[in-house]
Amino acid sequence: INMTQDEQKQAAAQAAIQYVPKGSLVGVGTGSTANYFIDALATIKHQIEGAVASSQATAERLKKHGIEVVELNNADNLPVYVDGADEVTRHLHMIKGGGGALTREKIVAAVARKFICIADQSKLVDVLGNFPLPVEVIPMARSYVAREIALLGGQPALRVGFTTDNGNLILDVHNLNIANPVELETTLNQIAGVVTNGLFARRGADLLLLGTQQGVETIK
Ligand code: A5P
Repeated sequence: INMTQDEQKQAAAQAAIQYVPKGSLVGVGTGSTANYFIDALATIKHQIEGAVASSQATAERLKKHGIEVVELNNADNLPVYVDGADEVTRHLHMIKGGGGALTREKIVAAVARKFICIADQSKLVDVLGNFPLPVEVIPMARSYVAREIALLGGQPALRVGFTTDNGNLILDVHNLNIANPVELETTLNQIAGVVTNGLFARRGADLLLLGTQQGVETIK
């Protein structure tokens, strides 16, 4: 077999279904790989209680498939969160937020007991940072945060014409050397006006289902 990138995403998404406990709520991420997971989830929708969405786009897709969407505040038990990533390492650290949903993704991931990352092979990297790191900022803090990030050695670029589900802006930070993702995640969060950054390292994934040309590899 020689799976295409889309087939790899789909295979990883399908493999995540076995980690969904019967009768439970499922946290669902955002993006093309997460969309494949939603499609797979639809086939077992009568065996789950419902889903918690990490974005408006995901909520809409879930509803279209007839899957009940439950508000996070009303979810008292969330055994799993399944989401894609823009980059992931074998240490299960990730860069997320390419789709701009990083803050809600981080919140739902924080609540979930288990984070299952689903990705195609192109997302696996040795060191994070080739993909520009998304940082969500309060609009009035945009210039200040950009200056502080430049002091850290990054080159922030405003994502033009984009507003997050929370009404904020995204700075995509280029040329960061992310040798220590846990430390950088914390440092960026200390800047006043930063809502969240796309590093998922302090709370990385618990499991990576990586679609490869040969099939799905499970990395713990
Ligand atoms: C969304 O904000 C991101 O965190 C996504 O997880 C990321 O962009 C992955 O998207 P794809 O599955 O489309 O590559």
